[in-house]
Amino acid sequence: MNLPSCILLLVGIYSLTTPVHLTKNPHGGTSHEVTQQNHAMKEDHGARESSPVRHQPQEVVIQSDRAPSRRTRGINKRLLLGALAWHILQNSNRPPPPPPPDTTPPTLTHCPFVGDVTLPSGQTQACINIGQPTYTDDRSKAVRVIQNGNTPPGGCFPEGAYVISYIALDDAGNRNDQCQVRFSVKAIHCSSGPPKVAHGYKETCTPITPLEDVLGTTCTYRCLPGFRLENPTSQSTVCIQTGDQEAEWSGNLTCQKTNCPDAESPPHGRYSCTDGSRYQSVCRLECDVGYAPSTHKHSMVCQADEQWSTVAAICVDVKPPKFTNCPDDVIAYAERNEDHVTVTWPPLQAHDNSGDEPIVVQVDGPLNGSVLSTNGRKYRVVHTATDNQGNGNNCSFNVIPHAKRNKGEKAERRRKK
Ligand SMILES: *[C@@H]1O[C@H](CO)[C@@H](O)[C@H](O)[C@H]1NC(C)=O
Ligand SMILES: *[C@@H]1O[C@H](CO)[C@@H](O)[C@H](O)[C@H]1NC(C)=O
Ligand SMILES: *[C@@H]1O[C@H](CO)[C@@H](O)[C@H](O)[C@H]1NC(C)=O
Repeated sequence: MNLPSCILLLVGIYSLTTPVHLTKNPHGGTSHEVTQQNHAMKEDHGARESSPVRHQPQEVVIQSDRAPSRRTRGINKRLLLGALAWHILQNSNRPPPPPPPDTTPPTLTHCPFVGDVTLPSGQTQACINIGQPTYTDDRSKAVRVIQNGNTPPGGCFPEGAYVISYIALDDAGNRNDQCQVRFSVKAIHCSSGPPKVAHGYKETCTPITPLEDVLGTTCTYRCLPGFRLENPTSQSTVCIQTGDQEAEWSGNLTCQKTNCPDAESPPHGRYSCTDGSRYQSVCRLECDVGYAPSTHKHSMVCQADEQWSTVAAICVDVKPPKFTNCPDDVIAYAERNEDHVTVTWPPLQAHDNSGDEPIVVQVDGPLNGSVLSTNGRKYRVVHTATDNQGNGNNCSFNVIPHAKRNKGEKAERRRKK
């Protein structure tokens, strides 16, 4: 409903509902309010009918004082109602003017900002709540926002550079693509992957990344058989931050050779080793002169199980004892005209390299103190000296009983020969 109709309607309602006092004022006029109302009504009515009265308001006031007749008021009322009805009819039949087409895109009021993210130690992705851009539109109540580019599940972005753009559409399809969110996710890396450990191998690294070099990566190691970590309580290395954008692997893992028990020197010998008692060292038993290893396996190897490959050999005495006073032939002379003689020799002594006293036993021939016939026969006397290891040595000599002859006989025998 347009403005004039509205005013008209209001005025109409007012005039119909306002009670009009028709009693004449004893002072020759109606009450002041009624005068005013009548005046306003008349003025409006007059304006619509281009009444000449309109230009003389003073006269209208005077006329109103003269109390208009009943007939005049009835006509005014009918006119007013007719005008009202006409306006209402006119306005209800007229179609509303078509609105001008919407050509204004939505206005961006807030575009989210995400600064570059440096991942903290041990993390491989940044979980970011980017938020949504906001828009206003002059005509559409709702603005449709389309995000271009997928955000990863949970909004967690691995290392990389990202552009997320938004398109806003109003109901008329006007678009605003001003909002673009650009950011990068960076990780600090160790200058290289997990360190190589000689004689060892990497077991696991966490977190799992392609190059296993992200700040905070922890790798555990084991050593090959025969080797052990220098410090068994710390078997891992960590990529730790050493500068603004720098990181290095911590510690210094080293696998060192395991040890066998010390190869103790046996009596009369010692081990000569290629690498002490460490893994893979080969030890050869070397014995003193006169001694030899007890077995033919006289070298041993330190194994990965930290044991020597063979039971340790010992050095044994291989040198027989030696008689120190083994006599030459013993010639015993019988008394003159005797055909028997008692043969004796001194006690035989032997010495052994071991220092132990060898056992001396007579094994052949007549015993010391025997009385032997001087029949020209030789007797072989054999003694054996044996040491603790059973090494034996003989002392042999001849015992020759001899008749004592006079000088003539001796000469005669020499001639016969
Ligand atoms: C690590 O230890 C080994 C043996 O103990 C040594 O030779 C090497 O120089 C060390 N490296 C560092 C970086 O300390
Ligand atoms: C043999 O007998 C003599 C005389 O009795 C003695 O002096 C000597 O020591 C003995 N020799 C041995 C090997 O017993
Ligand atoms: C010592 O003498 C015995 C008996 O005559 C003999 O059987 C043995 O072979 C000899 N030993 C040596 C080392 O000559």
